[in-house]
Formats: sequence, C-alpha cells, structure tokens
Amino acid sequence: MKMKRMLFLSVILLSKLVAAQDVGLPQLGKAPVKEVIAAMTTQEKIDLIRGTGMKYTAPNEQGTVAGDIDGKVPGAAGSTHAIPHLGIPAMILADGPAGLRIDSVRYDDCNKYYATAFPIATALASSWNTHLVQQVGQAMGNEVLEYGVDVLLAPGMNMQRNPLGGRNFEYYSEDPLLTGKMAAAMVNGIQSNGVGTSIKHFAVNDQESNRNGVDAVLSERALREIYLKPFEIAVKEANPWTVMSSYNKVNGTFASENYDLLTTILRDEWGFKGLVMTDWFAGRDYPAQVAAGNDLLMPGRTMEARKIKSALEDKELTEAALDRNVEKILNVVLKSPAFRNYQYSNKPGLKVHAAVARQAGAEGMVLLKNEANALPIKSKKIALLGNASYDLFVGGTGSGEVYKAYTISLFQGLEDAGKVLDKDLEKKYEYYVSKENAARPKRQSVLDVIKPVDEMHLKTSELELLADQNDIALITIGRNAGENSDRCAETDYYFNSLELELIEGTAKAFHAKGKKVIVVLNIDAVVDVTKWRDWVDGILLAWQPGQEAGHAIADVISGKTNPSGHLTASFPMHYTDVPSAGHFPGTPTERPEETIYNEGIYVGYRYYNSFDVPVAYEFGFGLSYTSFELKKMKLSSNTFDDEISLNVKLKNNGELAGKEVVQLYLTAPGKTMDKPESELKAFVKTELLEAGKSQDIQFVLKASDLASFDEERTAWVAEPGTYTIQIGTSCKNILRTATFTLNDEIVVEKAHQVLAPKETIDEIKHKPLAGK
Ligand code: BGC
Repeated sequence: MKMKRMLFLSVILLSKLVAAQDVGLPQLGKAPVKEVIAAMTTQEKIDLIRGTGMKYTAPNEQGTVAGDIDGKVPGAAGSTHAIPHLGIPAMILADGPAGLRIDSVRYDDCNKYYATAFPIATALASSWNTHLVQQVGQAMGNEVLEYGVDVLLAPGMNMQRNPLGGRNFEYYSEDPLLTGKMAAAMVNGIQSNGVGTSIKHFAVNDQESNRNGVDAVLSERALREIYLKPFEIAVKEANPWTVMSSYNKVNGTFASENYDLLTTILRDEWGFKGLVMTDWFAGRDYPAQVAAGNDLLMPGRTMEARKIKSALEDKELTEAALDRNVEKILNVVLKSPAFRNYQYSNKPGLKVHAAVARQAGAEGMVLLKNEANALPIKSKKIALLGNASYDLFVGGTGSGEVYKAYTISLFQGLEDAGKVLDKDLEKKYEYYVSKENAARPKRQSVLDVIKPVDEMHLKTSELELLADQNDIALITIGRNAGENSDRCAETDYYFNSLELELIEGTAKAFHAKGKKVIVVLNIDAVVDVTKWRDWVDGILLAWQPGQEAGHAIADVISGKTNPSGHLTASFPMHYTDVPSAGHFPGTPTERPEETIYNEGIYVGYRYYNSFDVPVAYEFGFGLSYTSFELKKMKLSSNTFDDEISLNVKLKNNGELAGKEVVQLYLTAPGKTMDKPESELKAFVKTELLEAGKSQDIQFVLKASDLASFDEERTAWVAEPGTYTIQIGTSCKNILRTATFTLNDEIVVEKAHQVLAPKETIDEIKHKPLAGK
C-alpha cells in the first residue's frame, strides 16, 4: 500500500517536472518577472502574498514559533511560499532588533544555534555613532545569512513618545532625525551581507496597550515631522528590502489597510521599491490590505486566502492589485540568499560578534553624574550591590529577545578587569537572586516579561560593615520590558521603596566613612532619577548592553573605555511632566480605543525646551572622563542659498583619550510657522581623540533641514527670517552659536494631502500644552 502511494507520488512529481519543462514554464531569474507572474494561477498568487503560517514547534523551553517550511530555521518568525515549478524558493523571516531570534536548540540535534545578543536599540543609538551601528548591523546580518535566514525583521524605529512605551527598548530615540540615521546605518550594515531587513512598525505604533486596535489620532504635521520622518530617512538612505506595517490605526484606518500610507507616501513620495509586509496577524480586512499595497500578509492564514479569493470573484479586488504585490515579493525573492541557493554554514562569527557587542555596549553607555571623579574606579575593593549586579538584564523580551550562549555578569566583568570584589557579599546575593528567580512562575510564552525581583534587604549594621570592609559601593538597579505590554509608572518608571532604601542606606553608610557610591542603571527605558540622584556620587546609565554586558560595564567603570554616550531621550523631573502623560496610552485606559497625540510636534525635548519645563537630564546629555573645547566655528555665508555649511574644530583639552558627540540644533525664526525652540538637524561622533588632539568637522544644511510641514499648503516650507545654529554637546549645553538669514521663503516639496485626522480635534493642532 505504502509502496503504491510512493509510486503514485513520484509519478505526480515527475509529471509536474516534465510538464514544467515541456511547457517551458518561465523560471524566476531567467524569464522576466512579469512573465513568471503571467504563468501563475490565481491560487498561486494568493499563496505567495501570504506567509506559510505559524506553528508552535516548542521543542525546547524557548517555546517559540517557526515558519512552516520543513522545520528550516526553527524559531524563525515565518516564511513565504515556494512555487518550485516556477523557480520560486521560500524565504525565511526572523526577528529582531537586538540580534537574530531563532531557537538555539533543535529537536533531535545536539548542536547549538546561538545568536549574539547585541545591546538594545536605545543603547546603540546612545553611542550616536552611525559607523558603530553599521558595524553591529554587519555582524547581525552575518548571523542572518549563516543561519539560513533571508530577511531580519528589524530595525524597530518607532518613536519613544512616552517613557512608558513597552517597546521603547527596541527603538532608538524621541528624535526623528537620530532615529532615522540610526536605522539607516543598521539597515546598511545588515544588508551588506546580501540579506534583507524590515524596518518596522510603519507607522505611529508607539505603545503596546491595545496595539492591535488602537487608533493613533494625530495632526498631519506631527505625523510627517515626527512619526514618518525616521522611516523616510531610512528608506531614502538605506533602501530596506522590506517595510513592516504596524498593528494600529492611523487617523482611523489600520496602517496595514492604508493606501495613503503604504502607497501614496511610502512609494509615490519616497520612492520605496521593496515589499511591505503586515505585522503578525495585523489588520482586519485582508482584501483592503492587498489593495493598499501591503504585499505580504504575515504569518499567513487560510481565512485570508478565502477572503481574498472571494473579493477577487466579487470584483472588490482587482487581479492587477494582486499582480502588483506578487511582483514586489518576487523582486525581493530575487535578491534573497534562498534564491542564490546560498549554502549557509550555521557557523556565524560569534566570537568576533561578541567583541562588537562589547564595544557597542560600552560606547552606548551614558555617564550621567560623576562628582569629584568618582569614576573610573582604580584599584579599590568594591562592594557590589543590587540584584542586577549578579543577574543583568541584557535585553528585553518578545520578538526583540535573543537566545544567546551566555551573559557576562557585572561581577564577572569586574573580576575579569582585575577588580577586587567583596566575595561574601557575592555569596549572599547569588543565593538570594537564585532563590527569588526559582520562585517565579515559569514563563509560558516569549511575551511574558521577566521583571526584576525585589531588592534584598540589608540592615544598617550590614551596610556599615560593608563600608568598613570595602572602598566603594556600586549598586546596579535593573528594569525590563517587552512586547505586548506597556511599562507602568509606579513599578517601572519610579524606584520602589526597597530600591530607594538600598541606595539611601548604602550612601549613608559609605559616605559616613568618606567613601563613594555609584549607581549603575541597567534599564530598558527612561526612569525617575530625581528621588535618589543627590544621594550618590556617580551614575552610569548602562542600558541593557547585550550578552557582553558585564565586560562592557566594567570597561567603562575601570576607565578602559572613556564613556561617550549621550541621551537619546530626555529624563524628566516627574512622569507627569511628559507631554503625552495625560493621554497615554489613550482612552479608555484599560483597553484604549484611541490615543490622541495631543502634544503634536512637541515630543521630548521639543516640548521641554519650548515651554521651559525643567528636566533631570536633557536630550543629548552625557559626560566624559575628559573634556572638550570648541576651538573654531565658521559659517560659509550669512545668507542661505541652496545650502550652508559650518566648519568647527573640536579639541580634547583633557588628559585622557575620548570621543565626543557634536550636535547641531537649529532655531527657526518661528514668525510665520509654529516652531519648537530648537531641533536637532545634524550630529557627528568624533574619532577617539587623544589628549590635546582635535578634529575638524563639517556640517551642511539644506533647505529641507529648515523646512516644516505646512498643513494649509500640504508642503514642506522653509520660512524666511533669521535662523540660529547652535553647536553643543546636548540640547542645552550649547558651546557656540551662529546666525544666517533666509531671504525668501522656499517651498521645498509639495506632498499629497492624505492621512488627515477625520475630525478636527483641537488638541492635536500642535498647540502649546503649558503656558510659554
Ligand atoms: C511584532 C513584530 C515581530 C513579529 C514577528 C509581532 O508581534 O510586533 O515586531 O517582528 O511579531 O515575530
């Protein structure tokens, strides 16, 4: 019986093959794409525009899911359909922003398939070093290629609109330019391996609460200037192979069903040539997604096929729309490793990548406070406190998680750096942390966020003893977040009483003996610092620095790496100061249907600076172990004509080698248009400058850098008047200014009048939130 069936199958297979050759079916790559499409049946086209589905492989406790193609690359997020008789192979798509997310263990296979956990996106962006980010991308892309994946579902590039955004860690910044530049560098790095990226989530997906249903309501200007700008930069500067549309609605229409977003803006205005895929299970109306130019529906479901088929039969959807989407997909398939039949090794350069992760981790750290040169710590005995010192968070959870081979703890990192540490304290913490971790409920899914366990309580007498026996105290406080839920003001943003007690108690005990206390922030996103920062001598913002975390932090603490990171988001004085605080995550709070972007363009520092709201640490802020001086600054002209350039010379006038971030902010006249106090328009991370050495830097501003989106005229317009350039090392620490004049208004670019909010909602008219 079995034999008969096999024989039957072989005959079918053979006849298919013969048929293909006999009829001379066009083959992808050999015949023009249009001919291949013409040879496809409608059913084949419908298959191609939706993924192969998702099944739970759960061969291991990672319990992740895989694209359903012969178990290739378990743990990948999905795959496209193959149509072998037309020479179309399947592509594998896998997450995510901090490294390749695939299962590290496989059923019936004793090999390990670890990927490198790189620092989270916010940490990478805090380096302000696009070369470094590109290098990280190159390393990540090598893992994508060598593990048999075609497209990495990264980078994430939504805005850090509010500190409670659950996926802020996967995103770069509260500033659109910085976000766009970082994403472009990442895409360029990854794609240099001949694999693809998917910039996500397009667009205005800045929260997790009811992410599948919430309507982001915002003005056209805020949309264009803040939320779409980063994607525009990445598309124009890096040509990502794919874009992932987001779950949410934008001004009333689901992003994945939005023709204006996916076709008019993305393709017609920006010239995007690649394919658009949905986020996983996004949207409701599948034929509308197809019609909107959402080429690929992921991960793929049978009901989608049914609905698309009947929409075609009912003439609600045209075959032409289907063909257009198929063509976009085939053009990406043509570039894929799968099409090249790339013989992947399953052996990426993990060792080299670990070194890249360590370097990037260290360069992304931001020194927030350093009283009387508390850091770097030279040869002193360190009391290492705080659970996270022994159990660091190296990255968040959800699709941004990475199944890595190891994590270097801070204790290990400092020991490897030759530091003397309190071993008794280590034993105490190790015991406590492993007991608390073991008591946690078992993780049921990748979406379960691993939150920090309560800090161990240490009595005053114990702290005093520690202060006797050690020379300095280092306390690490951890935070974690993940996909599918937002952060919470009480437990994520603010420090709890156990954490405050630990910091205060330690500070009292050590200060009483003339010894210093440093706090290391091992966090995913902005936290409150105001309650406790005055108690300590130094604060190092380490973020979640990837698997080499302990080494990277030790590099900065020991002075091997001079910190050069700067903030990519403002640290407010109070959560309630955040311009979107009253509207986040929308209404009703439990399951928001709508979130009104009431702050308009006044996001982050654009708001704090324009309305004189004090912050704890401003956007762009970061200290160094050395100091820099702006030696020279020269503007090419006093009047703007097409473009203007500015030359500056920055000198390291301290005693240690270091890097600095030179930031250019622009203040517009603001006479005919409402303008923020200043906006970041360019930045440069210097080379490692030896003490006494300097670097010449040139900035060029174009008319588009002067322009804002004028809703009345649906155009990018540069208003006439006097502009002030501010060169600084943060948005407030301005070292020098220069002015120039634009004599006549420039209409830089006309745009389509699309995506306006349905009703005029006064609140989103980018009006001031607080009196100026
Ligand atoms: C996330 C995406 C991710 C996709 C595939 C979704 O839940 O929002 O960022 O790429 O899953 O894992």
